[in-house]
Order: sequence, then structure tokens, then C-alpha cells
Amino acid sequence: MSLLLQTPRAAVRRLLRPGAPSPLRDRVVLVTGASSGIGEATSRLVAERGATVLLVARRAETIGSLADELVAAGGRAAAYPCDLTDGDAVDALVERVLAEHGGVDYLVNNAGRSIRRSLRDSHDRFHDFERTMAINYFGPVRLTMGLLPAMREQRFGHVVNIVSWGVQLKAPRFAAYLASKSALDTWARVAARETWDDNVTFTNMRFGVVQTPMLATSSQHYRGLPSLTADQAAARVVRALEDRPVSWNIAAGRAGDVLNLVAPRLADYVMSRSARAGRTTT
Ligand SMILES: NC(=O)c1ccc[n+]([C@@H]2O[C@H](COP(=O)([O-])OP(=O)(O)OC[C@H]3O[C@@H](n4cnc5c(N)ncnc54)[C@H](OP(=O)(O)O)[C@@H]3O)[C@@H](O)[C@H]2O)c1
Repeated sequence: MSLLLQTPRAAVRRLLRPGAPSPLRDRVVLVTGASSGIGEATSRLVAERGATVLLVARRAETIGSLADELVAAGGRAAAYPCDLTDGDAVDALVERVLAEHGGVDYLVNNAGRSIRRSLRDSHDRFHDFERTMAINYFGPVRLTMGLLPAMREQRFGHVVNIVSWGVQLKAPRFAAYLASKSALDTWARVAARETWDDNVTFTNMRFGVVQTPMLATSSQHYRGLPSLTADQAAARVVRALEDRPVSWNIAAGRAGDVLNLVAPRLADYVMSRSARAGRTTT
């Protein structure tokens, strides 16, 4: 019932039983994009909560060192290098994870890439649309589909997708990125309705600006906007893993939802002006 009402069950548990172990304890949590930013910080917190964390990213050495560090600190972690845009590699990853762990309890689809480019500059760059879909949509969907049967079989699973407030704002210059994130967001909303009976749930996390290497080449566009550190974002991801809400949003994203619903033309006007003024989303 509490899940139905979206009551944060873990929050109630924390209140009634302070000091009780996290629901993540002794569970298996797979985090993609674990070599950097939000994914790296999330992996550290998840390991601290007593879970076995499976680290996925392309940079094998980086996630290998992180796994060693987490194990040396008393945690349980293993590195699974994988290029999530390579379908065969994703299938091999799923096979290995199932063989070594029997499946995962929690999956964090965090790996991604952002492209900020106007349509005017994109006419000869169709690959921008393809590569954002490859990593932000097809990769996580293929991975989730591979791990889903074992979750359904054990009648427990939770998937957290790291999307963006931009799916609500629909910000100019981010058509490729936001369409791919919106696809994943919608996919998860539909999937949740099919996995309801199996106690497999999904959270879409629509982050605003988070200070990570992803912003390295475009930080000037985000100056003055409220932001989270990677550690703050990771704390919210862990809370979403524990509480399993349908979505996590920031106020500006919610405002974008409302404006696009009640006054879409006004929303077009506001967003086109803000883009001219150099404002942006991630
Ligand atoms: N930073 C923000 O303001 C912000 C806001 C909203 C949403 N987000 C989303 O948050 C997520 C994490 O981003 P971040 O800000 O933490 O950026 P980041 O530090 O650049 O991390 C991106 C991660 O994705 C991994 N990755 C990229 N391509 C991959 C591939 N083909 N296969 C496997 N892994 C791949 C990278 O690892 P390797 O390079 O080692 O493969 C890296 O670990 C992304 O989905 C992003 O869209 C970020």
C-alpha cells in the first residue's frame, strides 16, 4: 500500500527504527557509468550501505582501481568493463553477471552523454542523434531487458534511470540528448506497468545541474544556476534506491511540466528566450 501511495517506506523505517540497516545491505547493485561523476559517487555510497556493487564503464583501469579501493575499505565490489553502445558486449555483460551473481536486485542506469548543439549546427551531424540514442536509450534498455527476467523471477527488483530535468523543460539545443533521455523515461513508465505484479519498480531521476566532468567543456553555460555536487546527487540516488519512488524531480523541472501542459506556446516562448540569454539544461 505504501508503494501505491508513493510513501517513502524507507523514510518511515528510518524514523521508526533509526540505525536499522539499509535495504541495500547484502543486495547486488549494478551501477553503470561508475568510472566518474554521479556513478562513481553512487558506487561508493552503495558499497558503504553494505551492498555488493558491480561497477560498469568503458575505462577498465578506473573501475578496477575503484573496486580495489572499495574492497580494501571492507566493501564488496567488482569491475565489469563494458561499452554499453555495443549490443554484443551488453549481452556478454548480462551473461557474466547472471553466471556470477544469479542476477541483480538494483540497477542504476547512469552512464550517458550529453550533446548541446543547435539544430542549425546539426544538419550534417545525424550521428549526434544516433550516438545519444545508443548510450542514453538502447544501452540501458538492452541491459535492463537482460537483467529483468531474473528480477521478475525473484519477485524483486528496482531500476533507477538517471535522466534530466530537460525532459520536462524541453530545452533548446538539446534535441538529441533530451529525446534520448525522454525515450528512456517513457520506456520505464511503461515497463513499470508490466512488471507491477512482479514487484519490479522503476525510478526516473530528473536531475538538474550536477557538477561532474560531463560539464567540463560547457561549464560557462551553467554558471549561476543552482547545482548539486556529485556526492549530493549520489545521496539522492541512494535514497531513490531505498525508497523506490516513481520519479525524483527538482522544482524547475516540475514547473516545466506544468507550463508545457497548460500553456505550451508560452513554454516555447519562454524557452526560446532563455536559450537566447544563454541559459541551458543538462
Ligand atoms: N552532470 C549533470 O549536470 C547531469 C544532469 C542531469 C543528468 N545527468 C546524467 O547523469 C549521468 C551521469 O553523468 P555525469 O554527470 O556523472 O557525467 P560523467 O562524469 O561524464 O560520467 C559519465 C559516465 O558514463 C560512462 N559512459 C559514457 N559512455 C559510455 C559507454 N559507451 N559505455 C559505458 N559507459 C559509458 C562514463 O564512463 P567511461 O568513459 O569510463 O565509459 C562515465 O562513467 C548521465 O546519464 C547524464 O546524462 C547529468
